[in-house]
Amino acid sequence: MTPIKKTKFQRAVLAWYQTYGRKHLPWQQDISPYRVWLSEVMLQQTQVETVIPYFERFTQRFPSVEALSGAPLDEVLHLWTGLGYYARARNLHACAQQVAALGGFPSSLEALIALPGIGRSTAGAIRSLAFNQPAAILDGNVKRVLARVAAVPGWPGNSAVANELWAIAESLAPAEHCRAYTQVMMDIGATLCKKSQPECPRCPLKSQCQAYKTQTQNLYPGKKPPKTLPSKTRFMLLAQNRAGHILLQKRPAQGLWGGLWSLPEFEDEATLADACLLIPSIKTLHTLKPLPPLSHRFSHYELIIQPRLARVTGAPGVQDGDTWLWYDRRAPPAIGLAAPVKFLLEHI
Ligand code: ADE
Repeated sequence: MTPIKKTKFQRAVLAWYQTYGRKHLPWQQDISPYRVWLSEVMLQQTQVETVIPYFERFTQRFPSVEALSGAPLDEVLHLWTGLGYYARARNLHACAQQVAALGGFPSSLEALIALPGIGRSTAGAIRSLAFNQPAAILDGNVKRVLARVAAVPGWPGNSAVANELWAIAESLAPAEHCRAYTQVMMDIGATLCKKSQPECPRCPLKSQCQAYKTQTQNLYPGKKPPKTLPSKTRFMLLAQNRAGHILLQKRPAQGLWGGLWSLPEFEDEATLADACLLIPSIKTLHTLKPLPPLSHRFSHYELIIQPRLARVTGAPGVQDGDTWLWYDRRAPPAIGLAAPVKFLLEHI
């Protein structure tokens, strides 16, 4: 991480704001804590263009936090329809009731973050944009700008990285022009310092940006590390009869691969060997041979499959078609197969 020169940074972004900053968004007109709060909640996971018509309808129907607090929740949810993340609308309604009971929006960080649906960054936005107080924000856009300018490594979902970014954001927030500063940080993040193809040559911070200097913009902010999934090993029996057909077993209707045809599956090798002689479709076991393992990823774990090829003499009379099936690879029946089973059938 590289320290940022505070005054130089503030001057550069505020000068850019004069010419290029967004000043005509609906919540930038008739500024009030209510309008800033409402827009910030709507903008938490939603693009500006989508939010604008919702913001207009909301403020027409509910011109004040008192009006919103007195509305039935159903009507609030109705007006929210299409914006998604409906917990935001329920929190909005609960927050409006608490604010109305308080007689208006508080302006301290502690009091704001105690309200439903207001986190540290939304509180910072309300304090700076509505009350014009020095306060930092750290939404997704600002995280990207600061991570690049100061070359902060690591994924911001990691609390140590987030703390470092917060410390930078707070150290940079100016004592004056707080509203313009917060707005311009969001604007730079949204319009220049984009996730892909950032427009660095137009950026007022290019001479101070460590990522630009080293052309490593795409390394910041760091990506979420891939999850290391827990793994589970299963032994799968590929019993092959003299005709070359493979024995399949239907999975129970409920659960993983429900109703698909699969290979008989065992927790360990010894159980697999024993089971070869217990399966009604198998008369005699001749040889048992390991095949190379393969891996299949589910959302919550990795399945390591240890295939075992058994040459057997089948007992065709016991084929009931509901649970057991001798699969002929030269004339494959139209049945549902689990993906790794299909792979094994095609590759042995
Ligand atoms: N995203 C969150 N707050 C915003 C604001 N005030 N203007 C533009 N985009 C935003």
